[in-house]
Amino acid sequence: PPLDELLNLDDVEAASTKLISRKAWAYYYSAGDDLISKTYNNTVYRAIFLRPRIFVDCTECDTSTTLLGYKVSLPIYVSPAAMARLAHPDGEAGIARASHTFGAAQIISNNASQTPEQIVADAGPDQVFGWQLYVQTDRAKSEAMLARITQLPAIKFVCLTLDAPVPGKREHDERTKNVGSNLAVRSSVQADSASSTTREPRNGAKGGGIGMALFAGTAPDLTWKTTLPWLAKHTKLPIVLKGLQTHEDAYIASLYAPQVRGIILSNHGGRAMDTAPPAVHTLIEIRKYCPEVFSRLEVMVDGGIRRGTDVVKALCLGAKAVGIGRAPLWGLGVGGEKGVERVLEILKAETETAMRLLGVEKVEQLGPRHINTRAVERY
Ligand code: FNR
Repeated sequence: PPLDELLNLDDVEAASTKLISRKAWAYYYSAGDDLISKTYNNTVYRAIFLRPRIFVDCTECDTSTTLLGYKVSLPIYVSPAAMARLAHPDGEAGIARASHTFGAAQIISNNASQTPEQIVADAGPDQVFGWQLYVQTDRAKSEAMLARITQLPAIKFVCLTLDAPVPGKREHDERTKNVGSNLAVRSSVQADSASSTTREPRNGAKGGGIGMALFAGTAPDLTWKTTLPWLAKHTKLPIVLKGLQTHEDAYIASLYAPQVRGIILSNHGGRAMDTAPPAVHTLIEIRKYCPEVFSRLEVMVDGGIRRGTDVVKALCLGAKAVGIGRAPLWGLGVGGEKGVERVLEILKAETETAMRLLGVEKVEQLGPRHINTRAVERY
């Protein structure tokens, strides 16, 4: 279908599902066990009500904000997601060009299907990128990557993902592991490394699927005490921790500020631990038990964002920005770079509409007074 006939992110996902390979679809769509966290990540937003005010001039509407001090045009960024070229040859570089068009930030996955150099190649001078790290058991590999991305001025921070020391049990991905044959299931980082042959999908071994193959080599032994000093030794870039799911961990992270400049509340799109809480619950916990976290570091969230109203609700709860993981991949599937632009165009327009209907001109005006979260607070 023509891109402008896709009216919302569900339309984009449905169209993409018909166009991309079964294997790519299964890898993108999949989540842990019964997909409870994946599903609830979105439905939780539906149980939060907005409280629109009247008699507010909404001629102007400004979606711009800052991320770690850098100006961005949208409070929406692209979450790190592996293997974009399974959807379209434009890959992560296509996502980067679309993000540039919309002034959105992008976090490049450790397991991207193109190299960081290729992905940032067409980036504008002001474009904001993070690079996401899965610390490898062979630390030298991660150290080499950190040295490499530090050479790229477009990359402004390192995002250390912590919610998936092992991948969740993703059965859609496992079931389709043998469908189609020649897809290169290897990230650019793995392809570059000398031992990449050991990273071939371990089909049949302890469950399979693309996720399992990509996670081979990821270190399961990270700790507060050892990993942050190691990371600080190998990069001067600001650090963002991704995958926090409790107020306790958010509070501990805040004790590491300013070395840790931000945290991303995330359950990995439901792909790690099933029945882990959605970011909305963690935001509510932080507000209740340790609100000082919000002033010590920037709090971002991802998971289940499908509408501008979802974006606005997360910001009302204190998120600085929200990430989208699957949506840009579905966008790539329907039209490469142009499809990702369509995703961002839809979300931007919906966010503006939500702000205007709420009676808010600027994102920093959004606050708890604009929402009613009572229905989700009993958890
Ligand atoms: C991911 N995610 C992810 N996270 C990360 O830190 N490194 C990675 O390489 C990946 N790879 C990845 C691949 C695919 C196909 C998906 C769907 C997700 C998780 C991602 O950053 C984000 O947390 C979720 O995708 C957000 O949820 P939604 O927007 O997909 O609902």
